[in-house]
Amino acid sequence: MTTLFDSLKLGDLTLPNRLVMAPLTRMRSRQPGNIPHSLNATYYAQRATAGLIVSEATQVSQQGQGYPATPGIHTAEQTAGWRLVTDAVHQAGGRIFLQLWHVGRISHTSHQPDGGLPVAPSAITPSGGTFSADWKQVAFETPRALELDEIPGIVEDFRHGAQNAKDAGFDGVEVHGANGYLLDQFLQDGSNQRGDSYGGSIENRARLLLEIVDAAIEIWGAGRVGVRLSPFGTFNDMHDSDPIALFTYVLQQLSVRGVAYVHLIEPRSSAAGSMDKVIEDAPDTAQLFRQAFTGTLISAGGYTADSAKLAVADGQADAIAFGRLFIANPDLVERVRAGAALNAYDRATFYGGDKKGYTDYPSLAKSV
Ligand SMILES: Cc1cc2nc3c(=O)[nH]c(=O)nc-3n(C[C@H](O)[C@H](O)[C@H](O)COP(=O)(O)O)c2cc1C
Repeated sequence: MTTLFDSLKLGDLTLPNRLVMAPLTRMRSRQPGNIPHSLNATYYAQRATAGLIVSEATQVSQQGQGYPATPGIHTAEQTAGWRLVTDAVHQAGGRIFLQLWHVGRISHTSHQPDGGLPVAPSAITPSGGTFSADWKQVAFETPRALELDEIPGIVEDFRHGAQNAKDAGFDGVEVHGANGYLLDQFLQDGSNQRGDSYGGSIENRARLLLEIVDAAIEIWGAGRVGVRLSPFGTFNDMHDSDPIALFTYVLQQLSVRGVAYVHLIEPRSSAAGSMDKVIEDAPDTAQLFRQAFTGTLISAGGYTADSAKLAVADGQADAIAFGRLFIANPDLVERVRAGAALNAYDRATFYGGDKKGYTDYPSLAKSV
């Protein structure tokens, strides 16, 4: 029977265990330029016993930023800042992928390089709001639909981010195709009503994601590229008329490409960062799509140590990603192994701030 503590071949890497640290936006790259710094390096290095760390979502362009103080991977200074993080994680014996991100319509004019509107596949306003560059809660604006001739530039931004991630010393990249951000907006027909080769049929809606995955593979090789998807997720006002057909197609295409892994988010904790909206009768995504993807599958979303053990033992997933438990437990791997109690997380310090709720959660050795 497979356990969380069996090693796992994941693309070109061998993970020492199957507990993955999920990508977690913490909005703590506060200095001008959205540059990671030594506090971020400490935070990630504290969690280096994870089988794999996936970094917080990291914008590939200024246009792709949607919240204040999220880090980027489009400037030389950001790349150098990330080098502090990768060096610290590697020195602590860990492995770390960078999550490549463009928020699309989940932005605000205050984040845009030219003060223009956020971009999207179609000019459809999502419900809800976000934080402006000066940390005020603002309603979403109606985005501007990307022109067809702008789309190659988006692919190039991801390619550039993938190259910078390599230069920064990461072990690979995860393409963020989940949670209602730009690539998910293209995938799902609730947000994509284009009439060109990037809208309409499932093949057309999946085109941008797959072009970006191919660009990342050109730089990294397929064995160091993962993809995150959230079928049935409703966060950021997402919906699709036929999610099973859509995501089955996408997973088949990713199987053909032989990517290192696919990372699926269970909709039972659909609301990603806020987690307030739990769909009781949501389908079990890992189970539903296990056959559609032939490679390594990471499952995330509301796992406890016990449910994670079961999912891996049953073969529903090859590894389990933990979000909130890794925020509060830098030594989550050791605690689960020992059957020790877990620290509770403090939701008030998830986003923004400094050390508090970031690098000051105690590990077992220190808490006894
Ligand atoms: C504070 C916070 C920030 C998050 N940031 C990201 C992110 O940057 N990228 C992403 O793909 N998911 C993000 N998520 C979703 C998590 O990766 C994960 O899928 C979710 O928390 C469910 O897992 P959990 O129940 O183990 O926390 C975030 C979640 C939280 C709570």
